[in-house]
Amino acid sequence: MECPRLLPSTHLALLIFLIPLTLAADLFFDFRCISQPGNYTPNSPYQANLNSIFSQLISPNTDFNYGFYNLSAGENPDQVYSTALCRGDRTQDVCMSCLNETIARLKQNCPMNKEAIGWHENCTVRYANRNMFGEMEYTPQSPKPSTGENASNPDQFNQALDQLLSNLSATVVTFASLQLVTYN
Ligand SMILES: *[C@@H]1O[C@H](CO)[C@@H](O)[C@H](O)[C@H]1NC(C)=O
Ligand SMILES: *[C@@H]1O[C@H](CO)[C@@H](O)[C@H](O)[C@H]1NC(C)=O
Ligand SMILES: *[C@@H]1O[C@H](CO)[C@@H](O)[C@H](O)[C@H]1NC(C)=O
Ligand SMILES: *[C@@H]1O[C@H](CO)[C@@H](O)[C@H](O)[C@H]1NC(C)=O
Ligand SMILES: *[C@@H]1O[C@H](CO)[C@@H](O)[C@H](O)[C@H]1NC(C)=O
Repeated sequence: MECPRLLPSTHLALLIFLIPLTLAADLFFDFRCISQPGNYTPNSPYQANLNSIFSQLISPNTDFNYGFYNLSAGENPDQVYSTALCRGDRTQDVCMSCLNETIARLKQNCPMNKEAIGWHENCTVRYANRNMFGEMEYTPQSPKPSTGENASNPDQFNQALDQLLSNLSATVVTFASLQLVTYN
């Protein structure tokens, strides 16, 4: 039952990827540093565990697994949990280079935060000092309104959008079940 529990956050990430497609390249990156869990200290075990996760994420030896990663390193209270996801239509090389860049930007923008999330055009990276694997979490979010035209009939637009997204969720569930059958 591991796989279905992972779906909600995968689905959420998928939606997040669909939205920024129309924006300029330098607008693709966004991040949140979560201050509530506090900061780690330099050269602490937490930092070492985080760095170990970073190296695994950018290593070609880590199982590509369709671009989905759930990694954990260390022991309580210094245990680090991380999830990362690449766009399904990107190659492993593009995925790794996106993870590398997103990690670099998170290091720069959230230098000591125990918890942070970064969104890029081709991938997303998240880490925390708590186990968030398979949890449905609506925040943090990065909404990106398009700069284009507004829908002329918002009700009709939202109805079509609901249907598209619900069709999409059904497709994701079906695909995930197939993978479970085929590969587990
Ligand atoms: C990652 O997810 C897989 C599949 O759900 C699970 O078997 C594995 O134990 C998870 N890894 C960690 C570090 O929790
Ligand atoms: C990863 O990012 C670092 C820092 O931005 C850069 O120096 C390095 O060349 C990148 N490595 C790869 C494999 O892209
Ligand atoms: C995302 O991947 C595509 C290739 O699949 C690449 O052309 C594009 O530059 C990448 N985006 C960023 C921000 O690196
Ligand atoms: C779209 O609607 C919003 C809210 O009503 C408005 O502020 C914005 O100017 C509109 N944008 C365009 C491109 O018409
Ligand atoms: C959603 O699926 C239904 C049933 O397969 C189909 O008739 C409809 O056109 C789909 N709608 C969208 C927006 O994809």
